[in-house]
Amino acid sequence: MGYFDTLIEKFEDNPALEEAFGKHIHWGYWENPDNATGTLLDFAMAANNLSQLVIKTAQIQDAVSILDAGCGFGGTISLLNDSFHNLNLYGVNIDNAQVERARKKILPQNNNNIQFINANACDLPDFNLLFDYSIALECIFAFPSREIFFQQVRKNLKPAGKLIIVDFIINPNMRKFWLWFENQILSKLITDTYGSKATNQVKFIGIKEYENIAKNTGFKLEKVIDINKNVQPTYPVINKIIVDNFSDLITAKGLEIFSQFNLINYQILVFSS
Ligand SMILES: C[S@@+](CC[C@H](N)C(=O)[O-])C[C@H]1O[C@@H](n2cnc3c(N)ncnc32)[C@H](O)[C@@H]1O
Repeated sequence: MGYFDTLIEKFEDNPALEEAFGKHIHWGYWENPDNATGTLLDFAMAANNLSQLVIKTAQIQDAVSILDAGCGFGGTISLLNDSFHNLNLYGVNIDNAQVERARKKILPQNNNNIQFINANACDLPDFNLLFDYSIALECIFAFPSREIFFQQVRKNLKPAGKLIIVDFIINPNMRKFWLWFENQILSKLITDTYGSKATNQVKFIGIKEYENIAKNTGFKLEKVIDINKNVQPTYPVINKIIVDNFSDLITAKGLEIFSQFNLINYQILVFSS
């Protein structure tokens, strides 16, 4: 049973689940991980703090255009909508159920314009505008191709635009082992956990591969921020939810163990044109 395939239906019977994943569907960020309390409320606040950190890292200001690819329930767009004025906010997601929930829950304010669109991030629609920023927060590993996504973003960004990616990055020292492990085991486990609506397969890569993709598509990797230690308190919280709801503990445990040993690191990457 997949995580996204049943998530919205489960919200009705399980308010705790909605509290944890009703807005953001990504890991939490704790400035000081020792202060994490392990509660769902603490996790929800930390998930919001991760979006906040991405917004701060991108240096977003009023009156810019932002494309959030793989926007989920639109949590980051909601935060932008609350924090800034005169924004053009476009969220794209492959799962229409998530898009519909976002449209229902997030209403424009502060003179912002918000559009949620059901589309594949690797086959973007015609927006009739160019963006200052594109964000892909914890979703690019599920897209059909990172390189095609970068090409698509390039076409839709202003010349000085920025692309901000949040992803699990493979430690170069374990690349060979990783390729074997990913092909044989992990891809299937994660697909089972995240669900077929979200992805048919997942793929993780290292920084070198990101630099090559950037070079091939007209971007430059400008900044890498490693927040692996700041996201660790996510695991005990989500492991419990996954056990309670989906019996997919092995996948989450696998990611937890790899990330505890810094073999797979949670990072924010900023690309400039
Ligand atoms: C872990 S969630 C992250 C959602 C959101 N970025 C957030 O931070 O809350 C991954 C998201 O990627 C979406 N997704 C997967 N493949 C996609 C694709 N090819 N195009 C657009 N969205 C996709 C899934 O439906 C899901 O909403």
